Amino acid sequence: MEEIKCIGILTSGGDAPGMNAAIRAVTRAAIFNGLKVKGIYRGYKGLYTNEIEDFKTENVSNIIQRGGTILKTARCKEFMTPEGRKVAYDNMVKAGIDALIIIGGDGSLTGARIFAQEYGVTCIGLPGTIDNDLYGTDTTIGYDTALNTIMECVDKIRDTATSHERLFFVEVMGRDAGFLALNGAIASGAEAAIIPEFSTEFDQLEDFIKNGFRKSKNSSIVLVAESELTGGAMHYAERVKNEYPQYDVRVTILGHLQRGGSPTANDRILASRLGVASIEALMEGQRNVMVGVQNDKVVYVPFSKAIKNDKPIDRDLVGVLRELSI
Ligand code: F6P
Repeated sequence: MEEIKCIGILTSGGDAPGMNAAIRAVTRAAIFNGLKVKGIYRGYKGLYTNEIEDFKTENVSNIIQRGGTILKTARCKEFMTPEGRKVAYDNMVKAGIDALIIIGGDGSLTGARIFAQEYGVTCIGLPGTIDNDLYGTDTTIGYDTALNTIMECVDKIRDTATSHERLFFVEVMGRDAGFLALNGAIASGAEAAIIPEFSTEFDQLEDFIKNGFRKSKNSSIVLVAESELTGGAMHYAERVKNEYPQYDVRVTILGHLQRGGSPTANDRILASRLGVASIEALMEGQRNVMVGVQNDKVVYVPFSKAIKNDKPIDRDLVGVLRELSI
């Protein structure tokens, strides 16, 4: 097996709070273990356009507390083509990079898997996404911070909801996963969550109106996961206007404010642990795995598993939400 002397690190896909803490941890752990580090800017795009820089320990000073990613991030069209990946590979070889550490979500790890297969490049992935939708890890870098942001926003919305006795639909991120909506609802004491995982099983709006709304309260907050499968918060507000016109309904779409801000302690610790573990994985000869955490222990999950499988949502959480919203 080829000895690894120099790693390249990049962040890709949607930014997530804690990505900087992960960049710091990977860089410092690599240097600690005698490896050279190159920072690659704008995700796979920077490999393609050759935006690669030597990284020393000072490059990652004073960033653990910062949201976003100092390496920038992008979604790169060229990297999706074999020709684009060839250019990226040639640049990587020219820069003397033997292995890549990729911090990102589903799409980013899919790119890593293809690149690894085509060129035999050693890739290690770190789960960096607020959506928490990667299989094989209990949590992802950025999820806890986004959850806390949602909770703080809903706390504020509740003041208006109760004062005006309104029904609020609050749309949260998550792409096709309901983790942020469901746990955000539990954390903020919302009355219900509408999530993509149940979209084909039953009418979640009808279920909520029948089971809860206006039994004991005059206001309600429902978190809706943004997704084509749910139809989003506007869709439910329209439905309420048509089907239950007696209710005073409003919509808030939290949008990208959920991706920003200083990472929580949990996200900083997770990013630091996984960053160190990614270098350990390399030293142990692991290849093409995502480093995740299960039951508070670091695990290696083959890319094929992390990407292909849908991460199941804990159905007991729905019971918790329902019991506590009476
Ligand atoms: O994957 C993270 C995420 O924030 C999703 O929750 C959301 O659907 C998507 O990215 C939004 O992407 P963009 O910032 O490109 O609009």
